[in-house]
Amino acid sequence: MKLCKKTLALIIPLLLVLLTFLPVTTALAEEKDPVYDTIMKRGELIVGLSADYAPYEFHADVDGKDQVVGFDISIAQKIADDLGVDLKIEELGFDALLGALKTGKIDLIISGMAPTPERLQEVNFSHPYMTVKQKVVVRKDDKDKFQSTKDFDGVKVGVQKQTTQEELAKTELVGSVPTSLQKVPDIIMNLKNKKVDAAVLEGPVAEAYVERDNGLTFADVTFEQGEKDAAVAIPKNAPILEEKVNGSIQTINDNHLLDGYKKEAGKLMFTDDESFLGKYGKFYISGAGYTIFLAFMGVLFGAILGGLLALMKLSKSKILRGIAICYIEYVRGTPLLVQIFIVYFGTGVLGLDLSKIAAGCIALALNSGAYVAEIVRAGINAVNKGQLEAARSLGMNQPQAMRYIILPQAIKNILPALGNEFVTVIKESSVVSVIGVSELIFQAGNVQGASFKPFLPYLVVSLIYFVLTFTISRLLGVAERRMSTSD
Ligand code: ARG
Repeated sequence: MKLCKKTLALIIPLLLVLLTFLPVTTALAEEKDPVYDTIMKRGELIVGLSADYAPYEFHADVDGKDQVVGFDISIAQKIADDLGVDLKIEELGFDALLGALKTGKIDLIISGMAPTPERLQEVNFSHPYMTVKQKVVVRKDDKDKFQSTKDFDGVKVGVQKQTTQEELAKTELVGSVPTSLQKVPDIIMNLKNKKVDAAVLEGPVAEAYVERDNGLTFADVTFEQGEKDAAVAIPKNAPILEEKVNGSIQTINDNHLLDGYKKEAGKLMFTDDESFLGKYGKFYISGAGYTIFLAFMGVLFGAILGGLLALMKLSKSKILRGIAICYIEYVRGTPLLVQIFIVYFGTGVLGLDLSKIAAGCIALALNSGAYVAEIVRAGINAVNKGQLEAARSLGMNQPQAMRYIILPQAIKNILPALGNEFVTVIKESSVVSVIGVSELIFQAGNVQGASFKPFLPYLVVSLIYFVLTFTISRLLGVAERRMSTSD
């Protein structure tokens, strides 16, 4: 009993002291805002968005320069101006935005994003800057078929992946079969090609497409939960930033600035008198540059890694062999897409701030390394066993035999296959578009969004890939023939 009292006598004052300091410490913690501090130090606000969403955010040619424009950009610019920093736009797929915000790759999301309960668990949202109706777009000939939300039994409905539109199709279009796609222009393309028969789109986006395409129209469908807000997504640990963003939104709402922003966006949406390639050629050229760069870096570092792995796999040490085998099997057994996300977001979690292009190169190199390892190993194994025996009987040791006899012969088997690997990586690099590296596929998406043409941009991009890979294969063929004549 005594002991109890003694300990109580000790604990109670301690608790009291703690309790008096607790509110102070939490108040202090609340005032801390690492995100805001970084923005101010950097002098730059990084806003993430998915520029497939005219008139919110899309690519347009401004004074001969490709730019991301739209009223979301005007809002972002206003916030950056109010903070007194520069604005940097970071483009990602819509479904990658929340991850990027949570891992600190971007400071804000301004991408027509609605504050939903699920998202609110991950991030905070500003006050809304607009409220819009959700619409169903169908082909003109089908307009009579769709009179209410009950008319969608078994109908394929196109929606953007991980959006509120996807949710609406699931919950309100009874019996429909939602088809979730990465980008809004993909949805339109599917609708026009009868792969889906309806699309749920955000009001302003739907209007932009219906106005531009006289094969499309609105269905007379009204949703129960059809009014959705758009707001700015903010990291959870950023109270000061949140306050500032809300301040800017307040000014925008009070002074009806959005009307002006929308008018500007509208003007940029309707400018086409030039030819398709004249207008969008620049997108493709810069895209091709990135694609070649990615593939080159991927194969270069992939070859170094692959050579190392092959030697490890052929070595006598069980551990080295084990590591190499595990690595090769793991990489070859998992999708490149996943590897790219792991490198890009994983390094963020580890506190490494990799740029998108660096992450893309590294992911491609890590991936290609596994395949090159097999190429090198096969090349070495293909050299006649007698060669090694002959070298050894001449008194060379294993490394010497490898270096002077086996490898020079193996190179002849390896180089052509390495060339093919380059061709493969050129094509595979298209996957890097998911993290927003502006290579060919990403640019094709931009052209889609800017031109409202769903099909042509991809046709053009396929031709460019073909020209690239075909030229390289031909060059490799020539090199190969040269090498075999030198035998
Ligand atoms: N408002 C919808 C949502 O919050 C879709 C927004 C899509 N935005 C975009 N830039 N693609 O889910």
